[in-house]
Amino acid sequence: MGVNVIIGAQWGDEGKGKIVDLLSANVDIVARYQGGANAGHTICWGDETFVLHLVPSGIFHEHATCVIGNGVVLDPVAIMEEIRMIRDLGYDVDGRLLISHNAHLIMPYHKRIEEARERMRDSSAIGTTGRGIGPAYMDKFARTGIRVVDLLDRDTLRRKLKRAIEEKNAVLRGVYDADGLDVERIIEEYVEFDQLIDPFVTDTSQYLGQALRAGKRILAEGAQGSLLDVDFGTYPFVTSSHPTVGGCCTGLGVPPTAVDTVTGIVKAYSTRVGNGPFPTELDDATGERLRQAGGEFGATTGRPRRCGWLDLVALRYASMINGLTELAITKLDVLTGLDELKVCTAYRYDGKETTRFPSEVQTLEKVEPAYVSFEGWSEDITGARRMDDLPQAARRYVRFLRDALGVRISMISTGPRRDQIVSEEAAPAFSVSTGGE
Ligand code: GDP
Ligand code: IMO
Ligand code: MG
Repeated sequence: MGVNVIIGAQWGDEGKGKIVDLLSANVDIVARYQGGANAGHTICWGDETFVLHLVPSGIFHEHATCVIGNGVVLDPVAIMEEIRMIRDLGYDVDGRLLISHNAHLIMPYHKRIEEARERMRDSSAIGTTGRGIGPAYMDKFARTGIRVVDLLDRDTLRRKLKRAIEEKNAVLRGVYDADGLDVERIIEEYVEFDQLIDPFVTDTSQYLGQALRAGKRILAEGAQGSLLDVDFGTYPFVTSSHPTVGGCCTGLGVPPTAVDTVTGIVKAYSTRVGNGPFPTELDDATGERLRQAGGEFGATTGRPRRCGWLDLVALRYASMINGLTELAITKLDVLTGLDELKVCTAYRYDGKETTRFPSEVQTLEKVEPAYVSFEGWSEDITGARRMDDLPQAARRYVRFLRDALGVRISMISTGPRRDQIVSEEAAPAFSVSTGGE
């Protein structure tokens, strides 16, 4: 009963898609609450790999209803493509994919403005995914956005679009020296979406409220990660939404009192894609090795991800902001074969040691990580299903993490596939220890 929120505890790409897919087997509803097609959530079974950008990662479990909440910014072109892909794979979406009538739409001018702005920022560019996310949220909060509900009324849509495109064209041409967009062409294109999207659109907060009253179990799927949160992340090198736990309430319309579990997804090392400070980044052969072994290339843009050691200062901060009640550790297998593993436990700054995460970038750019070292392991762990299957050194590593964060570990992922998981039932020893092993 109630809501289990799935949160990326780092800079995104922690393996949320895999864990949400896995947990979807035991819930009634899977709901995305923020972000847009900047997300790339990968799901693997057998030899098949699928990447979802907007549709919740529960879609491949046919008993589950999938909800795209009001907090998501929806790209109509991307959602239609994704629905087509899911149908082509033989999965039904009719009646089991619901889209909030209040979600805001990504428009072609959002992408155009983002591209022009990033180009103008040059060396201080954020390194966005180019999916129009920032400008769409700007319009939402400026109260000039166009929402899904507007698609269903052609006259209103035409009027709002015309006004918006004329204004954006003036900005594109006047400020960014970029080409404007053709008003009539966009109007025609977007007017067509109304029929396509109509069957999916509903008041999803009402739907979720009723589901909660009926005792249904809801999995809330966060996109991005806590350190990309617009308030709590490494601003301005962040996304424009709230991947942290509060975003679940505002992005779905579920009350905080309905949340019973907050699961932090933690990659066994750190990655970041795009620009911004990254204290434990490894700009060396070990970083390259993590990138290759972990397949660390963006699921949305294909960009190489920056790689580094695990950062407990950042993770403690993410745990505090989100009130994490459990952890799922992913990609532990990627560390196999490294002789020595390091974990950052504090930062040194201005001659002092601190365990506070300074989200202001000026400080974060200057901190020096203080590390503790661990012995690595060389055994293949991709077949591990129980705690006892893991080599001693791997167990020591995850137990250190559990005790340093004071949060129990409910799952350890040992490969990209659904079945590659050590779960709590098989590993009761993962609750927080009071000493010893
Ligand atoms: P998300 O955005 O948090 O859903 O993560 P992504 O899908 O962008 O990136 C995670 C990548 O790691 C994907 O390619 C997954 O298939 C893969 N992955 C997930 N869990 C594991 C794991 O335990 N081991 C390995 N080797 N790969 C994993
Ligand atoms: P998932 O859900 C990793 C990063 C971008 C950029 C910054 C702002 O797959 O974990 P945006 O396009 O959102 O304005 O870009 O945020 N970013 C992500 N990094 N995983 C993601 O999503 C991301 N979504 C955005 O690289 O640094
Ligand atoms: Mg991703």
